[in-house]
Amino acid sequence: MTDTTQPQTQIPEHGGTDAGPAVTCDFSTNAHPLGPPPAVLDAVLAADRQRYPDPSYSALRQHLSDWHGVAAERVLPTAGGAEAIRRITLAAMLAGVRRVCVPQPGFGDYAAAAQALGLTVVPCLDADAMVRAMDVPCLVWICDPNNPTGRTLAASEWAAIDNARQRSGSRVVVDQAYEPLRLHGASSIPPSLTDQVWRLICPNKALGLTGVRAAYLLAPVQDDWRDRLVALAASWVLSAEGEALLRAWAQSEVQDELADSHALLRDWVQEQQGRLASWGFDVMPGSVTPFWMARLPELGADSELDPELDLDLDLGSTRRKMAPIEPTRTSGTGQQKLEAAHALQAAGSTVATGITVFPVMPHTPPATPAALLAALRHHGIKLRDATSFGFPGWVRLSVQTPASQMALLTALHQVLGPHHVVRRRSPADMPSLLPLPPASQQDPQ
Ligand SMILES: Cc1ncc(COP(=O)(O)O)c(C=O)c1O
Repeated sequence: MTDTTQPQTQIPEHGGTDAGPAVTCDFSTNAHPLGPPPAVLDAVLAADRQRYPDPSYSALRQHLSDWHGVAAERVLPTAGGAEAIRRITLAAMLAGVRRVCVPQPGFGDYAAAAQALGLTVVPCLDADAMVRAMDVPCLVWICDPNNPTGRTLAASEWAAIDNARQRSGSRVVVDQAYEPLRLHGASSIPPSLTDQVWRLICPNKALGLTGVRAAYLLAPVQDDWRDRLVALAASWVLSAEGEALLRAWAQSEVQDELADSHALLRDWVQEQQGRLASWGFDVMPGSVTPFWMARLPELGADSELDPELDLDLDLGSTRRKMAPIEPTRTSGTGQQKLEAAHALQAAGSTVATGITVFPVMPHTPPATPAALLAALRHHGIKLRDATSFGFPGWVRLSVQTPASQMALLTALHQVLGPHHVVRRRSPADMPSLLPLPPASQQDPQ
């Protein structure tokens, strides 16, 4: 068990800075790739910003409680999921909790909130580890489906966690931020447990409006933390736009539109994973969401040519082909080819093709994952580096539109070179720390 108690002194960057070249295709976001349903966007844009919202949000809480079928006092609006995580961690500390169990890999804000308050963080690789950590009353975070893996808990895991919860007097918070984006199967959380745990609902990702800071907590039927959490909220914790988003969210036409988009997202996921597989991206299996973990292609190991892979997508490779002596097509080792290219440049830097004159540039693909991500970023493509999740050399990818997928492929072609060799890695290379969900939960699609 690893305990981490170092307070965090920096604002978390969530996997990468927003500084740098403009992003035209963002594969790092978990927001719905189709953007907001028009009804939700209209509601947000029509929000009355000239007045404070009702400080008790009575009408909104009633609306959400009717929709969830729970008492209105169990609905606690928050200024986004991130704010809810901070507030509930503070309430835990004030109630005397000292240990916070977080999923590993998992969303970094759970640990950041605990560390900021000097609490002990216990990263848990799976439900067993969580159960073992609950030998004292803990605050326990479960993210289902999980960010970043997209995996979901099995019924047996829920049962084990519930036993440990009752035995230890721990508080469990189930972060359901990605439940509305679950593309396969259904949650296995026992209905009886949904009334005994805290639930965090963050609709802004599924609604493609992450800039609107709005979410809510559903309190357990009975819990003496509830009043404390209400008291800890800033006045008007939810903006007028946030209130409008949450009202629009709990409407059947918006829910229907979201559900209707799932089939399209499933198709796009399949296409994107297939396309990236041909560039050597290995998918970590088990995701039920439109995002997943993928290992980056092997880099810099070999520059031998793959004669099968010659897609001719970019101008750079076309130029190389037009040159009479093409370094990437000469025989010899990668080093010899590189030397040939350098020699060609030194001899005059340009090569006459008969039509026009082009410089011949040796292709030097990035040798490290960081260099690959930086190069893609230069092309306007952002991938989510998974190093902060404990997976160096991996990224979390979200599904994006076919047009964005093609832009990513074009950028890969330019960055890795048209002759990038894809080497198959054995399934045994996959990280063993994440057991697959049981077969019953894996949708054949
Ligand atoms: C699992 C999970 N929970 C909560 C949040 C916080 O979301 P927000 O503060 O935008 O509601 C995020 C954001 O990425 C997340 O991934």
